[in-house]
Amino acid sequence: MDDGHAAALLDLMTWRRDTRHFRRDPLTPDQLDRLRAALDMAPSVGNARPWRVIRVRDADLRARVRAEFDRCNAAAAERYDDATRAEYAQLKLAGLDRAPEQFAVFTDTAPDAGRALGRRTMPQTLEQSTAMAVHGLWLTARAMNLGLGMVSILDPGRMRALFDVPDDWRFTAYLCIGHTEFEDDTPLLHRADWQANLRTEWDER
Ligand SMILES: Cc1cc2nc3c(=O)[nH]c(=O)nc-3n(C[C@H](O)[C@H](O)[C@H](O)COP(=O)(O)O)c2cc1C
Repeated sequence: MDDGHAAALLDLMTWRRDTRHFRRDPLTPDQLDRLRAALDMAPSVGNARPWRVIRVRDADLRARVRAEFDRCNAAAAERYDDATRAEYAQLKLAGLDRAPEQFAVFTDTAPDAGRALGRRTMPQTLEQSTAMAVHGLWLTARAMNLGLGMVSILDPGRMRALFDVPDDWRFTAYLCIGHTEFEDDTPLLHRADWQANLRTEWDER
């Protein structure tokens, strides 16, 4: 590895954004293969590889996810005072209508792989592993000039029911992937004055 790699990674991280504005044009099989390979390379506790990914192609399933999002988003809005609710209503919090690729991501909380290594004291490391796989996917998508948007404004129990997954699977996130309508180096929530990007501070002891 050299300075070129470091510069390229910094560039990717600078321009990796949560994407909610997609073009509709489909991905190629080769692009999908490369995204899948990114998941294959992700770190995981004990090499348990607990992410379980459903590529959602069916229009009816997508519509039901969309309806779930609308329901949860409206409920989330209700929890704010009037002024904040109006501000919240202006936010675009998912690209579900246009994203050509959509993935429901779950975490297997009892995977055979890994033989329980590393997770006895910290079972949450399985879900952390899935989150890290998603982040790798996110950067890979950006490197391919694609965008990824993570949607968590969904009810985990209803998502499990909707996709009829095994009892041990927990819902982690719903991902939208596709070509982006525009690029930005600043989070949308920052641009919308909802929440600025803050500097990470650390303690020294
Ligand atoms: C666990 C997780 C869940 C998220 N859920 C949503 C979501 O439901 N809707 C949304 O628009 N963005 C969601 N985001 C994106 C964040 O809003 C975004 O990462 C943050 O505002 C910083 O912006 P950036 O990713 O463009 O840097 C989620 C991000 C993470 C890490």
